[in-house]
Amino acid sequence: MKIFLDTANIAEIREAASIGMLDGVTTNPTLIAKEGKEFKSVLEEICEVVPGPVNAEVVSVDFTGMVREGEVLAKIHPKIVVKVPMIKEGLKAIRKLTDQGIKVNTTLIFSPSQALLAAKAGANFVSPFIGRLDDISQSGMDLIRQIIQIFDNYEIATEVLVASSRHPLHVVESALIGADIVTMPYKVFEQLLKHPLTDIGLKNFLSDWEKFKSTYKAENLLELLKVR
Ligand code: E4P
Repeated sequence: MKIFLDTANIAEIREAASIGMLDGVTTNPTLIAKEGKEFKSVLEEICEVVPGPVNAEVVSVDFTGMVREGEVLAKIHPKIVVKVPMIKEGLKAIRKLTDQGIKVNTTLIFSPSQALLAAKAGANFVSPFIGRLDDISQSGMDLIRQIIQIFDNYEIATEVLVASSRHPLHVVESALIGADIVTMPYKVFEQLLKHPLTDIGLKNFLSDWEKFKSTYKAENLLELLKVR
């Protein structure tokens, strides 16, 4: 399963990329606005750092506007994937953009029927927003299960990009179900690698080492291993 960061913050993106765990990035108008920088330069900077797809969203809601914005966004960098909202005009725009070879992610998916239509329109990715469903007491994970089942039934190649994740359990459950990608805030990315027992275990190993290293007559491990 691929891991994307859901942020336009370049410091967070650099940090995740430096660990070698980052497959792509999703942004949206809210996340870009939060950075207070020029739209295009934020995307260019992100594309330089991230090895895979960088999702950038259109802000028009009419067919012509979405297609025009999508074409311009796609020209910024070959890694750009154009995010188009799941609306009637959006479905037409998806077809038009993908016919030109531009990669499209359909965003703001909240039902299996929306995912099916987006896939039929030719979207390369669909983004079901699971956290926002959980927020209104509907199961986001159930939606992921249903979409994957439908895509499997018809061997649909559109990738399921789980969006609006809120915590590590969302990531683990997505992996268990077989989602293609999960995008997450940097905070969730960091939580994925942490466990309190890891920290306690490491602390104990190191304090035991400090206590007993004198019996080895060595100051550190390299000395013990006779590395000069
Ligand atoms: C996805 O591409 C969206 O940017 C994002 O996951 C939305 O998450 P939120 O519901 O936490 O705003």
